[in-house]
Amino acid sequence: RNHEFSDTIECSRITRDDFSQFFSGIRPLRVWLVFTVLLSFSLCSLANKLNMCMDGKHHKTEPGPEGELYQQVDTTWRKERILDVPLCLEDCETWYNDCKNDITCKENWHKGWNWTSDTNHCPVGAQCRKWTDVFPTAQSMCEKIWSNSYKYTMYSRDSGRCMQMWFKGENPNKKVAEFYLNHGSRTETAMMTSFTLSLVVLLSML
Ligand SMILES: *[C@@H]1O[C@H](CO)[C@@H](O)[C@H](O)[C@H]1NC(C)=O
Repeated sequence: RNHEFSDTIECSRITRDDFSQFFSGIRPLRVWLVFTVLLSFSLCSLANKLNMCMDGKHHKTEPGPEGELYQQVDTTWRKERILDVPLCLEDCETWYNDCKNDITCKENWHKGWNWTSDTNHCPVGAQCRKWTDVFPTAQSMCEKIWSNSYKYTMYSRDSGRCMQMWFKGENPNKKVAEFYLNHGSRTETAMMTSFTLSLVVLLSML
């Protein structure tokens, strides 16, 4: 017990010493410079997020044959990676129902195809299996098939909180992207505000 206690004391002393040593060497100007750089970086990454959602090369703006959706994705997907985009419930379920009687040789359609010819072929040794054996549920298919680009949700198409894969007319996903952008920026603004406040407090202590 005594040993534990002295460890704690030792530990907090080191932390406090390191802390004051770190800040005594920093001039306020430099702190503000770092702050500005951080702020522009976070704004930049927000803008990128929106672009990725809206202007992906393989993003479908109109209904079309499935083949075009995954053709050549293999070679370019790294540049256009999206992650955990909330997909509308109906879109995932419909997609699953339309495919569930098919067969497929692959669980992850992003990678591993044989592209030696113009179209994608199953890699040597990959056996075709029943769709439902590869993807037992709609959720497993929607999330795994494009390596977690999409996230299964309970949001319906009219919720404004999820992306629609198939739609007619104006792109409804624009509003959804804007919602998540604003939502995200509000969180980041809050974080930035508290960051600024702690900096002000710190600077006043120097
Ligand atoms: C890719 O497909 C071609 C035929 O189109 C075949 O000759 C080759 O062995 C395949 N390669 C792999 C790695 O599956």
